[in-house]
Amino acid sequence: MNEPTPLVIANLKANKTLGEFTNWLEKVGTESANFTGTVVICPSFPFLAIASQKLAVGNWPLKLGAQDLSRFEQGAYTGEVAASQIASICQYVIIGHSERRQNFKEDDEVLFEKTTNAQKANLEIIYCVQSKKDEIPEGVKIVAYEPTFAIGTGNPDTPENVKIVARNIKKKKDITVLYGGSVASENVKSYLTKDEVDGILVGATNSLDPQKFVSILKSASF
Ligand code: PGA
Repeated sequence: MNEPTPLVIANLKANKTLGEFTNWLEKVGTESANFTGTVVICPSFPFLAIASQKLAVGNWPLKLGAQDLSRFEQGAYTGEVAASQIASICQYVIIGHSERRQNFKEDDEVLFEKTTNAQKANLEIIYCVQSKKDEIPEGVKIVAYEPTFAIGTGNPDTPENVKIVARNIKKKKDITVLYGGSVASENVKSYLTKDEVDGILVGATNSLDPQKFVSILKSASF
């Protein structure tokens, strides 16, 4: 990855109305001006275009990502959003979040198809794995280790274990590794170690409140 680290992803999941989201974005945009890493905001699909316009006007140091994409390219797939459509608005996409794997039964076959589509569209993929056993598709450059027991529970994995998993992933490939699962301003520093854990993925627990998310950014500099 060529962007400065730490890389911090805000996954807002299926939360907020348009008005609530734009208020959130203005607060986070204004208060994140001094952050020296990279921040990627992942709102729901319908908010991506307005977010992209607001980022351009506000000149905030934020990037945009989608939370998912279709396994199909553009065509007769009602309700789907194709990689090339996402790439016309933003730079990043999350693939393989445990909520997609569990609630929508996405298996490796589907996730690998999504990865191929995202790669063809030149999207930067944030590929989520839940354990070191999960397969990582060829060419993926950013992996988020997110054990399910830690997501939304207030029970994060230990920094020691996260580092072991990160080293393991990096042994196989030159990859940017993130940790996700109950990351808060109080514990973020313990996960980030240069050349091992390069960033974090913050879900609904601490990203929905803009102040909580900004405090994570403030505590997250290397
Ligand atoms: P959490 O979620 O930060 O709310 O634990 C992480 C995630 O779902 O990616």
